[in-house]
Amino acid sequence: MIPLARLLLTIIMAQPLTQSERKALGAYYTDENVVRFLVRWGLRNATVSSAMDPSCGDGRFLAAAAEAGGAGRLVGCDVSPQAVESTRLRLGGDGLEAKLLQSDFFALQPESVAPVDLVVGNPPFIRYQRFDDGSRAKALESALRMGVRLSKRTSSWAPFLLHAVRFLNPDGALAMVVPAEITQARYGLRTLGALLDHFGAVTLLAFERNFFLDAQQDTCLLLAREKGQQSRHVRLVPLSSITDLADLELDGGGADGGFDVAVKVEGPVRFAEAFLKPAERRVWRRLKGHDQVRSLASLATVTNGYVTGDNEFFHRTREVAETERLPPTWLFPVARSSKSLRGLLFEKSDVADLESRGLAHHLILPQEDLFLAADRDVLNEWLAQGSRRGTPQRFKCRSRDPWWRVPGLQKTDVLIGYMSGAYPRAAVNRCGAYYTNSLHGLRLFQEVPPELIVLGFYSSLTLLSLEIEGRSYGGGILKVEPRELDRALLPLPEAAFTGWRQVVHEVDRLLRDGRFEDANRQVDAVLLKEGLGLTERDVQRLREARERLMQRRLGRRL
Ligand SMILES: C[S@@+](CC[C@H](N)C(=O)[O-])C[C@H]1O[C@@H](n2cnc3c(N)ncnc32)[C@H](O)[C@@H]1O
Repeated sequence: MIPLARLLLTIIMAQPLTQSERKALGAYYTDENVVRFLVRWGLRNATVSSAMDPSCGDGRFLAAAAEAGGAGRLVGCDVSPQAVESTRLRLGGDGLEAKLLQSDFFALQPESVAPVDLVVGNPPFIRYQRFDDGSRAKALESALRMGVRLSKRTSSWAPFLLHAVRFLNPDGALAMVVPAEITQARYGLRTLGALLDHFGAVTLLAFERNFFLDAQQDTCLLLAREKGQQSRHVRLVPLSSITDLADLELDGGGADGGFDVAVKVEGPVRFAEAFLKPAERRVWRRLKGHDQVRSLASLATVTNGYVTGDNEFFHRTREVAETERLPPTWLFPVARSSKSLRGLLFEKSDVADLESRGLAHHLILPQEDLFLAADRDVLNEWLAQGSRRGTPQRFKCRSRDPWWRVPGLQKTDVLIGYMSGAYPRAAVNRCGAYYTNSLHGLRLFQEVPPELIVLGFYSSLTLLSLEIEGRSYGGGILKVEPRELDRALLPLPEAAFTGWRQVVHEVDRLLRDGRFEDANRQVDAVLLKEGLGLTERDVQRLREARERLMQRRLGRRL
């Protein structure tokens, strides 16, 4: 029994940090379902007589290990004195012996602690910008000793895992919470690759529902056992939520429903693929090798849009520009974000429509060589307006000369949203608009009509590939970086097949009416069934897989 005064202190000490302290320390404590599962797995899968949590927080992992029995010797470490004190109170109340260290874990030498059989816990997720320089230097050096050269732009959790491995006995196990970056970011994959070099079996459990909502991190669980062996594959296991962990029986690190993925450092593991049903995965993989399915990189170059440094200052509606006497020759139509792309075709009339709703869609670009005296006055007035707002001192503006000339303007045939909510957007640029860096532009290589590319974009095949290749962040947003867009798959029927031309305007209208699913069905019927000859069943599989992945990321909104 813990005396009441102690219990109260424990409760008060458990979360004594402010929000910004929590962020600085990456102090997001783990759900008890996850704690119990990782400890249970760890104690079962290693011959465990000692366990360590290298960033123990309030000691919940160590307490669970003590409660489960088995781990006789416990070691806890945390950089925060409050955390160590909370752990001491929590364990001390049960009369448990534990070696508790208040230290930066990266400053702790493996030789200074007797090796343990299990390392369990949840490492701090501190982005590289906030990662303390001294600590980072030690972290990167430790990672190097594990055979991985990580750059300074590495979040703390990756070297933390690698450093932790150095505290393990041969045949020991590691059971940790990790961000999904382990399968997406380059440094994450390097870390995962190193774990495969040091463990005989590595499993990642992924969840349809994110369980660290306040940390805005897509998170999974890493289970690695048989330290001292090597493995070639990581096993991905999809689960719907952490409540599934209660009765999950992992057979020696593997699990039913999982599948093995070879980890290559060159390309990310397609983690979302874990959520495809086997039949869906078969169709998906078959289509990857289909001769009428192309990667976007083989059809076009993805080009970046412009950055103004102060969107409000540099954009105007035609109407407002007129009242400010800005010459019409200084105004250029633009697409500003996914929201600008309402149909399959982006037309002059869209720019006018958007502006009628007050959304400025013209970029101001003074034409110096045409200056009349009157224009110079207008220019000076506009520049004075900018100075009053502090625009010239803004980061992007102060690094260019003159500060008011926006560089990097491109016109491309196709525009694609960088970030999307439920539905990604793409359109044919029919009005020669420039576009901001909230959009990607596509410069097409060959004689493929841009309408066909955009139509293909709305097929279940391409939408599924975007869900698989892109990244979902907290908030349900799908973000597709240029390299990820390069890997998107597009249906490209033979040139002789022209049936698609008849549906361009119909699909454009459906999209404008917000009937996205109907537009998608139309495109599937024409491009996937008629064009590529897929069966209704296979198309259905692609659609259902896309729907499931979309719902998975939207679930993060909750
Ligand atoms: C994500 S929390 C995990 C706490 C606990 N293991 C849990 O899951 O509930 C991360 C912990 O790492 C600690 N921490 C941050 N940087 C650290 C470092 N360099 N060395 C040791 N602990 C650190 C924080 O104080 C925080 O308690």
